Amino acid sequence: MLVISEVADELSQMRALLTGALAAAIALVWSLSAAQGFATYSGGELFQRFCASCHGEQGRGDGPVADTLSVLVPNLTQLAQRNDGRFPAARVRDIVDGRSIVIAHGTRYMPVWGYEFWVEEGADAVAEDEARIMIDRLVDYLQSIQRVVDQAAPEP
Ligand code: HEC
Repeated sequence: MLVISEVADELSQMRALLTGALAAAIALVWSLSAAQGFATYSGGELFQRFCASCHGEQGRGDGPVADTLSVLVPNLTQLAQRNDGRFPAARVRDIVDGRSIVIAHGTRYMPVWGYEFWVEEGADAVAEDEARIMIDRLVDYLQSIQRVVDQAAPEP
């Protein structure tokens, strides 16, 4: 009986070890795949995943997190209208990437996406290309949601 219970003990210890190792391996694979999964997202999907919490599902600056910030979250559907009807793609790109922007006064509340995406995708040279592609897709998406609103009339 003693022997059998010792074997049983050892078996359950081994099982615990194996389960722990397996769980760790699964967690690692899962986090890697989760970290590197966003490069395949469309601009709209990226926007919903990373931007809508602040800028709102429609990009109007009314996401659930917006109220908690002490600054106004801009409406991203009027970037063209506010720039004489032309969508300022290069400037928008630089703002979203954020790495080349120097803040003259105050704080930037928006995350520096060029850096965030680079880290998210694995922080290497491939990740740099992926971060650039993701930002390009976001800029194209933002361009696609531009609207012209009559300043005199309330927004629908
Ligand atoms: C934590 C909230 C938050 C998130 C998330 C966020 N933003 Fe912003 N965004 C802001 C705020 C606040 C500003 C105004 C500038 C500032 O304070 O940093 C801003 C400014 C901008 C601007 C400049 C608008 C203008 O009027 O010049 C663009 C473009 C923009 N965000 C795009 C994005 C995109 C694309 C994403 C997702 C990848 C995103 N934002 C995610 C809060 C956020």
